[in-house]
Amino acid sequence: MKYNITVSKTKNSRLTEVDFDKIPFGRTFSDHMFVADYIDGEWTNLQIVPFSRFLMHPSGLALHYGQAVFEGMKASKGHDNRPYFLRPELHAQRINASAERMCMPTIPEDLFLQALHMLIALDQDWIPKKVGSALYIRPFMFANGEFIGVAPSDTYKFIIFTGPVGPYYPKPIRLVVEEKYVRAVNGGVGEAKAAGNYAASLLPAKLAKEKGYDQVIWMDPHEFKYIQEAGTMNLFFVIDGKVITPATDGAILKGITRRSIITILKDKGYTVEERLISIDEVVEAHKKGLLQEVFGTGTAAVVANVSDLTYQGVQYDLPAVEEHKVAALAREEINGLRSKTIPDERGWVVPVEGTVVASTSSSH
Ligand code: COI
Repeated sequence: MKYNITVSKTKNSRLTEVDFDKIPFGRTFSDHMFVADYIDGEWTNLQIVPFSRFLMHPSGLALHYGQAVFEGMKASKGHDNRPYFLRPELHAQRINASAERMCMPTIPEDLFLQALHMLIALDQDWIPKKVGSALYIRPFMFANGEFIGVAPSDTYKFIIFTGPVGPYYPKPIRLVVEEKYVRAVNGGVGEAKAAGNYAASLLPAKLAKEKGYDQVIWMDPHEFKYIQEAGTMNLFFVIDGKVITPATDGAILKGITRRSIITILKDKGYTVEERLISIDEVVEAHKKGLLQEVFGTGTAAVVANVSDLTYQGVQYDLPAVEEHKVAALAREEINGLRSKTIPDERGWVVPVEGTVVASTSSSH
């Protein structure tokens, strides 16, 4: 182990309080978290501690100017009862790409991975066993410099905490094309997993929910013609047997699940096109009876079936979700890799390794 990460274990595990058959997304948190501080140009105070609140200075920069980035990833239990990650290094790389865009320091990839392995090894009993459930992992970094002024912070905090989750969207979702607000433009921060992107999505999502939709489909900000993503997910369209997903052009989040699913589907013989796709093309395909499936992909969502989408007040119903064969295949492959029930031919599945060293107990 390259980095000296100290470990302070809780004396009061909350594990027995969890009903693993009923875990709402994002409401349950495991016993420990990893914390590090960026001070004087280096990452220091590397520690695993009991999960707890922490103090912020009222002028803490992230609270005002939004200098904050995060990741979403998962650990799962294989059928051999061992814990696994799926492509963890891609998450380390993406948080650094997000950090660079937000003028924040990067985290050495090996530090990110060591912290992750040690934390999940320690809290592995929190990983749900049910297929489709997982331990959600939330690495995030924020500016905690204590001054007022639009300038990069001089200090940052990096934290990883986790919690068991069930499916983000337990049933097929209803989407509506957003025709007023935009999520991101080329040259903006849409490609980064920056906290503010999600804050900006809340009002349009709330308005859509009031009308009975689960999410909006974000459109290009110039013509409202080309589809971007759904904010919580990348989008895929199956038209006449071909799979089409918007190309990540700088304004769309470079989804890791998206990337995996493109590879999986190509390996299975599907034609997958990453390109501009207009809402007119989707509507046209629907009119001709060629729009077979729409689904969203993301770490949280995994693969979410879309039951219908609405554009300019007209609702376009998709075929019954039982017929969404591509989405089902993609979901089975991701879940199968995570549960080790299908062979990992691409070397994506990484066993959680890590022994807990230098452990002290804490009464938190
Ligand atoms: C994820 O998919 O992990 C995200 O960060 C998006 C959010 C819907 C939880």
